[in-house]
Amino acid sequence: MTKDEILGWLKETDEQRLEALWARADATREAHVGVWVHLRGLIEMSNHCVRQCGYCGLHVGNKDVERYRMTDEEVIACAHDAVGYQYGTVVIQTGEDYGLKAERIADLVRRIKAETPLAVTLSMGERPDEDLELWRDAGADRYLLRFETSNPDLYDLIHPSLPGGTSDRFAILGHLRELGYEVGSGVMVGIPGQTFDMLAGDIDRFRELDLDMIGCGPYISHPDTALGKTAQPAEADAQVPADEMMVYKVVALTRLVCPEANIPSTTALATLNKASGREKGLRRGANVVMPNLTPTKYRAMYEIYPSKVCIDESSNDCRFCMHRRISSIGRDVGQGQGGRERRAEKLRC
Ligand code: 5AD
Ligand code: FES
Repeated sequence: MTKDEILGWLKETDEQRLEALWARADATREAHVGVWVHLRGLIEMSNHCVRQCGYCGLHVGNKDVERYRMTDEEVIACAHDAVGYQYGTVVIQTGEDYGLKAERIADLVRRIKAETPLAVTLSMGERPDEDLELWRDAGADRYLLRFETSNPDLYDLIHPSLPGGTSDRFAILGHLRELGYEVGSGVMVGIPGQTFDMLAGDIDRFRELDLDMIGCGPYISHPDTALGKTAQPAEADAQVPADEMMVYKVVALTRLVCPEANIPSTTALATLNKASGREKGLRRGANVVMPNLTPTKYRAMYEIYPSKVCIDESSNDCRFCMHRRISSIGRDVGQGQGGRERRAEKLRC
């Protein structure tokens, strides 16, 4: 599929043609990653952050956020819960928090790997190369870092660098690959100023990067952010809407250009449509969901965007809820770690 074809689909409004797109994405998903829906237990370990991203409620300047860091014992307890729930992976997500020393995270990864059969995914922002290397050596399997938008001007606008620093997420993604991580990235759909052409470029970039995991959700405006307060959208007909339909299109097209990737039906999408967003994402190309394992007392404090789902639920509620949703659409919960399988390589072996 060429970038122009991607662009055409992003602008498509004909319902019948869209039904055909969903069907194609669903068939491609089934052919390449099967009927299984892999569960990744999300642990939001710290909401401290040194960055000032214009879209994210946890940015350093937001004084209304009550900050927390979980203890190692709390994180380990979540990992054991994940094993009890038969999840294959835990995802440790934090703001860019240098209060979490690299050695501490390395020890934590080593403990989880020693005590459980879980894959460990880290999502801790733009940490220095040495930290990423240390964590990989400690046994971390995967790293998530969304590039948010491939358009450099929009990126700079919404994502100020640290003073004296530069922010090159593509360079970091390359380094993660060299270190042997499974590499995940993704974008937000409908960022103010994002045009259809930019979004088509993002999807094209997923293919070029040969990503193992690709997470895309709607941009959800947060009132305590720079973007939430002031951003001017692109010209009305060029601005990508941050709605459910656009996210389904992005998920479906992403599946078509990266058939082997692990693609979540994201929490942000579920936030737009609490009743059936996750299920629709799973039927239009996605094969992963990320139930929340964070202790309930911390959840409301991890407010990257407002009205996030699952704030009041216990981890057990999320687990049953996800199983129910998965069986309701005739799919099976995946067993094991559910990493990316490179079929082409397997064939060559
Ligand atoms: N709306 C939607 N998604 C957001 N993220 C951060 N802020 C928002 C928002 N306001 C996403 C970013 C980030 C991921 C952890 O959450 O894509 O990479
Ligand atoms: Fe948390 Fe549905 S996943 S309640």
